[in-house]
Amino acid sequence: MKKDWKLPSLKDAQIRTTKQSLVERELFDIPSHIKNMGNGRKFFLRTYGCQANERDSETIAGILYQLGFSSVKKPEDADIIFFNTCAVRKNAEDKVIGEIGHLKVLKRTNPDLMFAVCGCMAQEEDIVNLLLKKHHHIDLIFGTHNIHRLPNLLYNAMISKERTVEVYSKEGEVIENLPAKRFGKHKAWVNIMYGCDKFCTYCIVPYTRGKERSRSALDILDEVAQLKKEGFKEVSLLGQNVNSYGKDLNCDYNFANLLEDVAKIGIDRVRFTTSHPWDFTDEMIDVVAKYDNIMKYIHLPVQSGSSEILKIMGRRYSSEDYYTLYDKIIAKMPGCAFSSDIIVGFPNETDEQFNETLNMVEHCKFDNVYSFIYSPRIGTPAAKMVDNVPFEVKQKRLQILQDKINHYSNLNNQKYVGEKVMVLVDGKSKKNDQVYSGYTQANKLVNFTGDNINDGDIIEVIITEHKSWTLNGEKI
Ligand code: SAH
Ligand code: SF4
Ligand code: F3S
Repeated sequence: MKKDWKLPSLKDAQIRTTKQSLVERELFDIPSHIKNMGNGRKFFLRTYGCQANERDSETIAGILYQLGFSSVKKPEDADIIFFNTCAVRKNAEDKVIGEIGHLKVLKRTNPDLMFAVCGCMAQEEDIVNLLLKKHHHIDLIFGTHNIHRLPNLLYNAMISKERTVEVYSKEGEVIENLPAKRFGKHKAWVNIMYGCDKFCTYCIVPYTRGKERSRSALDILDEVAQLKKEGFKEVSLLGQNVNSYGKDLNCDYNFANLLEDVAKIGIDRVRFTTSHPWDFTDEMIDVVAKYDNIMKYIHLPVQSGSSEILKIMGRRYSSEDYYTLYDKIIAKMPGCAFSSDIIVGFPNETDEQFNETLNMVEHCKFDNVYSFIYSPRIGTPAAKMVDNVPFEVKQKRLQILQDKINHYSNLNNQKYVGEKVMVLVDGKSKKNDQVYSGYTQANKLVNFTGDNINDGDIIEVIITEHKSWTLNGEKI
């Protein structure tokens, strides 16, 4: 093993101290010998996983543009390929490993082609070991904590032609003043915090992303104000659990305060994700209800409808707590749309416990649910649990659950037919250039026709038809 490699350690990644995270404003730098190293070179960047990764990819692209690289749409046209990866489930990882394997062929036709792997899989010990042993065509591996180091790492890999591995397993800092190439023209992701301290027993994220740490409110509000100035119509405030915002800053300013201050900036649409049901406060509900520009759509992952399973998952709420919270939000904001995440087949989940999840879906009639079969993640407590549920049973449960989810999504969509909705226009549909698409306030995807429509407009559309997951309509 090379001495100067820095490899991940899951053990180190678990450490949490009470120290307040550092805010680093001057860490990013492009040394003079590296400036322009991308001139004439092209990159291809593929992103897997959640919005945190999407936002990180914007930073990676921003750095690459500053170095003079340009981007291409096909991996075979690139001089360097980046995979920004997700570790949340094994099938997601298998897909990435498979694609990494496929790209070997490209290197045969273009021996100078370089290959970089970053993101959450790069934070996993066993994955990095596998990549190093079995995938010799990977030139650069870096993690979620050192994206700002990309210029130096690239120089090492590209100019010095050394296989470069640098991954830190640590709590992490708040790093400001990184470049970003926003992928959206009208909708922007805004990180409000990084990491996670919840350590749900099944989840790898606290190990791959470090400690829960909040950005300063001033930095966030400045960013949103700037985005508004640049013509952005929508911001989505991002964190693994946005409700925890500010708890690490040792001041009284909390997520409800931040949300209210963001809304007051007056950008047309404000969204936030993800909210944990455990610390969703009444104050937050009041703020969402009070401001027209905060969308009445809440992603509230329940994971299971069984209090016993929730307890073993370490979710910190019971199914009764979830029902109470849901009912409270609906009472305050009738018509508020909800989506959720559900895991089926958690170790030793019984039929009764699974039925409690179905009951939860029936009660909450979610507009959308991301549902998954439990996937053991090495290093997490749940991965050590003995599991007596056969995989076929888990598959059957997922099917039953998804049928129910589709049923309610369909019913919810049906209600929109004949209704008028406000849509933020994303652009022309990929399949038909007579048709535009965009999202409603409740995050419904609408395909619609009409004249004088521009990307980024917020227009009124009448819904003429519904499908399970989308709506069709006409501009009024
Ligand atoms: N911070 C968010 C979740 C981020 S991960 C939250 O707490 O809601 C996104 C989703 O992936 C989770 O909500 C969960 O449903 C799912 N997930 C996470 N770990 C998983 C695992 N080991 N197996 C299956 N699904 C998992
Ligand atoms: Fe994972 Fe739980 Fe943190 Fe969400 S809150 S990222 S599910 S540990
Ligand atoms: Fe995946 Fe990492 Fe997000 S594991 S879900 S990309 S935080």
